[in-house]
Amino acid sequence: MEIRPTGAALGMEVIGVDFRKPLPLQEREAIRQALLQSGVLFVRGQLLDERQFVDFARLFGELESYGSTMNKFLKAGHPDILVLSNIIEDGNPVGVADAGEYWHTDRSYVPKPAWSSCLHAIEVPHADDGTPLGDTEFSSMIAAAKALPLALRARLDKLSAWHEYVFRFTDKNNSMPGVSHPLILPHPMTKAPCLYVNKGFTHRIVDLPDAESTALMEELFEFAKRPEFVYRHKWQKGDLLLWDNYSTQHRATGGYALPQRRLMWRTTIQGVPLQ
Ligand code: SIN
Repeated sequence: MEIRPTGAALGMEVIGVDFRKPLPLQEREAIRQALLQSGVLFVRGQLLDERQFVDFARLFGELESYGSTMNKFLKAGHPDILVLSNIIEDGNPVGVADAGEYWHTDRSYVPKPAWSSCLHAIEVPHADDGTPLGDTEFSSMIAAAKALPLALRARLDKLSAWHEYVFRFTDKNNSMPGVSHPLILPHPMTKAPCLYVNKGFTHRIVDLPDAESTALMEELFEFAKRPEFVYRHKWQKGDLLLWDNYSTQHRATGGYALPQRRLMWRTTIQGVPLQ
């Protein structure tokens, strides 16, 4: 097995491993460490069935269950797998069509946000010339925290931000009232400082007047997506990819439509309380 950096600010590729077979403990630990170090980890050419995919994700921890609103998009008989897709069958969508075309960090709006999310590419859309479509971009919030100007970093070290699910969804969700997290989050497992703010779910900076809070958030949203922090993943059928939600943010880039079909399976790995 080889683990090779992508050359971008984040991301490593695992080569020479077949996740349909049990892995020696040492390799499992090396893969887990690589995810913690690099924020994004992927392996090409794995066509796993549902059981194998769930077993793969469990190498990284216990899985989160998806809320009841997602029930109709869970894989039948495999409730740990959420289907993301633009495919319509018999007039019904087979998965969640919105793959998240905005910068976000999964579940930052709960006290115990998911550590990692995992996608398995079952069908990848292509342009007529064969170019894959539907890339996903990831940005390193460790690189961003390191690159912050010193005065700004000192200011952020003392501040927290409020995260809430309703930012992009109109119905108030009383089961998820929102939560504040430090703007510079020490990664719970590695202690690396991470810029923890995302356009999808961060509403305001706690204890700042509205105008100042909005201006600072806008500055940080722009900063966090600088090209030098970003790795753009071009999907191939059979890819398995995980990201670390504490040290990265991500967005789907879209750019495809039926008959170009995209079908992803997703699992989510539990995290730890951030306070
Ligand atoms: C996600 O944001 O969870 C999915 C990203 C993608 O499908 O590209």
